[in-house]
Amino acid sequence: MSENTQDISRRSTLKGAAALGTAAFIPAGVHGKNAKETNTVMDLTQDEKYWAEIAKDYDVDPDIINLENGYWGLMSRPVLETYLDHTKMVNRENSYYARRGFKDDFVAATARVATELGAKDGEIVLTRNATEALQGLINGYNRLKVGEAVMYADLDYYSMITAMDVLAAKNSCDVVRLNIPEPIDYDGLVEFYRAALADNPKVRLLLLTHIGHRTGLQVPVKEVTQMARAVGVDVIVDAAHSYGQLDVKIDDIGADFIGFNLHKWIGAPIGVGAMYIRENQLDAIAPNPSAEMDEKDSIVGRVHTGTTNFAAIITLPAAFDYHARVGAANKEARLRYLRDVWVDEVHDIKNLSVLTGNNPRLHGGITSFRFDGKTSVADNKAIVERLLKDHGIFSVHRDGVAKGACVRITPSIYNSLDDVQQLAKALRALSTQM
Ligand SMILES: Cc1ncc(COP(=O)(O)O)c(C=O)c1O
Repeated sequence: MSENTQDISRRSTLKGAAALGTAAFIPAGVHGKNAKETNTVMDLTQDEKYWAEIAKDYDVDPDIINLENGYWGLMSRPVLETYLDHTKMVNRENSYYARRGFKDDFVAATARVATELGAKDGEIVLTRNATEALQGLINGYNRLKVGEAVMYADLDYYSMITAMDVLAAKNSCDVVRLNIPEPIDYDGLVEFYRAALADNPKVRLLLLTHIGHRTGLQVPVKEVTQMARAVGVDVIVDAAHSYGQLDVKIDDIGADFIGFNLHKWIGAPIGVGAMYIRENQLDAIAPNPSAEMDEKDSIVGRVHTGTTNFAAIITLPAAFDYHARVGAANKEARLRYLRDVWVDEVHDIKNLSVLTGNNPRLHGGITSFRFDGKTSVADNKAIVERLLKDHGIFSVHRDGVAKGACVRITPSIYNSLDDVQQLAKALRALSTQM
C-alpha cells in the first residue's frame, strides 16, 4: 500500500465512522454480514466482494473496461427502473401530469436537492445540466464595470471560458487567463491563486473549477474563495465534477455562485443539474431575459428552460436514495482508492507523468497522465486507441492544458480493483513503445 493510499484510508475511516453510523448499505449476499458488522469506510473501500455486489446494480458493457466515466454517470438499475416507470407515466398522462401533478413533484425534487446540498429554500433552481447553471451565472453576472477584469485558468471548462470571454467583452473588461503550473503541490496552488489575485487588482469575477475535467485537479475552492472575497472578488464555482465524486456540500465549497451536475456523480438520469446562489447575492445575477415577471425576484427567474424532461427530474429522489445507500463517503473513498492503485503502480515508469499530485486534497477519482513528449491531441488520441485496441480499456484524451494534451482516467464505483490493475499493466507495456 502506498503512503498516499494509507493517508486516504485513515482520513476516510474517520470521516466514514461519523457519516455511516450503522447505516452502511450492504448489498444482499456480501459476507452474510449485516451493516453493524461492516460499517467503516475503510472496511468497504478495499472490499472487492462488496463492490462486486454494487457493480451488479449496473448494466455495464462486458466487452470493455470502461475507465471513462467522466462524461456522465450510469444510472444504477433501481434508479433506471424508477426512471423508466416515470417515463411511461409521463408519456401516458402527457399534459395532464405536466399541468396538474408536475409542479408539486418539481418543488419536492428541488427541495430534496437543496437539502442534500445543505442549501436554504430559494437558493437552488434545477437546470438541465451544469452548463445551463454556469452559463446562467456567468451570462447574468452584472457587477462588472468598465475597466475591471475577469479571471479564469487553462484547466477550466471550454464553454465556461468562452462565456467569461464574452462577458468581459460585453462589459469592456479585461481577461486574465492563468496557466496552472504543472506539477503543483497543494500549498503551491493556494499560493498561486493568492499571487494571481494580488497581481491583478482589477479582477472582479473569478471562475474556479472544483475538479477539472482535463487533469482531475482539485482546486481548493473554499480557501481561494475566502481570499477572493476578502479583496472584493466574486467567485463562480464549477462543481460539475466534484459533487458526488467528493462527499461535499455547499459549505465545503464556500462560494456564493455554484453550478452542479446531478447526472455525473449522483447517478440521476441525463438532463439534471442545479444552480446555487447564496440568498443575499441574488442581485448579482440578472434574471434570464425570458423570465416571467413573478420570477424576477427569485432564483427561479435566473434559468429559463422551456419544456423539460419531467421524468428525469422526478427521478432525482431515487438517485439520491441510491447515492445515500452506497454512502457519499464510501463512494469518494472507493473512487480515490481505485485512482491511487493505478497511480501507485505506474509511479516508477520513467517516461510517464501523472498530472495530479498525490496529496488527496489535489484530486478525487479522476487523474490524467502524459507520456514524455506526447503533447499533441493526435499523440493522445493514438494512446487512447492503443489502450482500447490492445488492452480493451476505454479512456479519453483531453486537451487545453498549457503543457499539452493528456489521457484522462475516470473510474466509477462499478469498476473493480482488477480493472485499474490492468490499466497499470497496459501503461507499463505501452511505455516501452513510446
Ligand atoms: C468541469 C466541467 N464543467 C462543466 C461541464 C458541463 O457539464 P454538462 O455537459 O453536463 O453541462 C463538464 C462536463 O463534463 C465539466 O467537466
